[in-house]
Amino acid sequence: MTEEGNGAPAVAAARIEAQAAAAIGAAQTTDALAEAVTAVLGKRSDLARAHRDLGRLDPDARREAGRDLHDARQRLEGLAAERRGTLAAAERAAMLQGDRLDLTEVTEVLTPMARGRLHLVTQTQRALEEVFVAMGFTVAEGPEAETDWYNFEALNMPPAHPARSMWDTFYLDLGQPETVVLRTHTSPVQVHLMEHQLPPIHAVMPGRCFRRETPDARHLATFHQLEGLVVDRGITFAHLAGTLETFTNAYFGPDIHTRLRPAYFPFTEPSAEVEITCTICRGAGCRTCSSTGWVELAGCGMVDPAVFEAVGIDPGEWTGFAFGFGIDRCAQMRHGIADLRILDENDVRFLRQF
Ligand code: DAH
Repeated sequence: MTEEGNGAPAVAAARIEAQAAAAIGAAQTTDALAEAVTAVLGKRSDLARAHRDLGRLDPDARREAGRDLHDARQRLEGLAAERRGTLAAAERAAMLQGDRLDLTEVTEVLTPMARGRLHLVTQTQRALEEVFVAMGFTVAEGPEAETDWYNFEALNMPPAHPARSMWDTFYLDLGQPETVVLRTHTSPVQVHLMEHQLPPIHAVMPGRCFRRETPDARHLATFHQLEGLVVDRGITFAHLAGTLETFTNAYFGPDIHTRLRPAYFPFTEPSAEVEITCTICRGAGCRTCSSTGWVELAGCGMVDPAVFEAVGIDPGEWTGFAFGFGIDRCAQMRHGIADLRILDENDVRFLRQF
């Protein structure tokens, strides 16, 4: 063995270890690390080759060089294990980050779409109910399909009464011809109520009504009314006028003027129409109010004794007033909607504004 031969394995071990450590440190993924480990510690590595070459050394040098190579391998294996731990943790973190479900994004997208709103007519109906409930009224409802008795006869319109032509009626194909109708107004709910409840009565009755007519800026074939009925002792027209005034002030504000005009309804005597200043033109006259400056909101009057008799209430003991507001008209005047037909179009760009 030469001098050179004796010293070479230790130098070789240090060089091999430095190169191997650099390769292990350079690996950026666990797969790359596995390849690097095979290259620097496997059968074809410089380290394995140096081990195989030990046989050419004399026994003392072989023992010493063998220990150096063994120690180097131990350190490299430790280094590889440490590097593997670091890379595996980073890879797991990256994978979890990638697989994460971003639930905040999902709720952001869904919430505005899932949240709807009440139709303007429903909002208006509830607002009107609230005003009357605050005044001490209760709320009642009745059916949309009525017999002739409830829609006409009990309201003082016997068969063939000319006033029936005030309402263009949809008849249902049920029972005898022309005996079942889609209610043309909410007044029949008054009849149901008085059949079921003894006076005193203070109630409002909202609901959907139907008329066989061509829709225009102020009329829909399917529309909504809020009926009112007060039956008590000593009720006068002054109570009616005061109630209407209180209501219009509360709902439209004190700037809007109201007027009562004499009218005719078979179920009230005397009868009147409630009109307010057209809010579209502020009274100047426009298409919506047919250039009159006024818009009719309700019919009203003192309950006709014939109606009390039809439901078995003694008109000598009880008097009362009644009214029927157009709910859609109230929405129209409150929000300045020039043409009522837009309420039926269900265009969300319109409805979203309310
Ligand atoms: N029912 C009537 C209509 O639809 C409105 C009405 C007028 C209702 C007078 C009433 C009333 O209660 O007393 O045209």
